[in-house]
Amino acid sequence: MGHGGNVIEELKADHREVEDMFDKINALPPGDARRREIADDFTIELVRHSVAEEMYLYPAVRARVAGGEAMADKEITDHATVERLLKELEGRDADHSQFDTLVARVISEVAAHVADEEARLFPALAAACTPAELDELGDKIRSAKAKAPTRPHPAAPDTPPMNKLLAPGAGLVDRARDLLTGRGRS
Ligand SMILES: [Fe+2]
Repeated sequence: MGHGGNVIEELKADHREVEDMFDKINALPPGDARRREIADDFTIELVRHSVAEEMYLYPAVRARVAGGEAMADKEITDHATVERLLKELEGRDADHSQFDTLVARVISEVAAHVADEEARLFPALAAACTPAELDELGDKIRSAKAKAPTRPHPAAPDTPPMNKLLAPGAGLVDRARDLLTGRGRS
């Protein structure tokens, strides 16, 4: 979802949005089917956020921030860990024996990633770029995220590629990533 503002404001708003989804899933009792729907929501949101960061944020960090290469490498490793967990989670119903454990692991990995980005990476980028550059990166991040819808369930259009993404379950992470990166499009 586009929030407006420079790259740091935009990405922090994404972080708060995902944290709200985590609060919602934690507020529901174990086995509640709505926990699966919220897991689909945060899966798509996390992939959108990761792809947008990989396309625009980390290249800027590598180019502009002292020590930026190592910072970007670490964040990309974090994303890969989260995506591995999301792939284990996709297609598992809320009453699956591993569902709650996987959700808890996603939440703790994402919390660590968010804390690290906000404490180290964003301040370093803000110090290395002009306000205009940060605004321009914000616009690029918003346009990258706009290639995939936020919510998988309501009012899903019937036409490809939307219907392929919006079908929940196995393959959701790859479908979201393909749609956002244009991978697999001929
Ligand atoms: Fe992030």
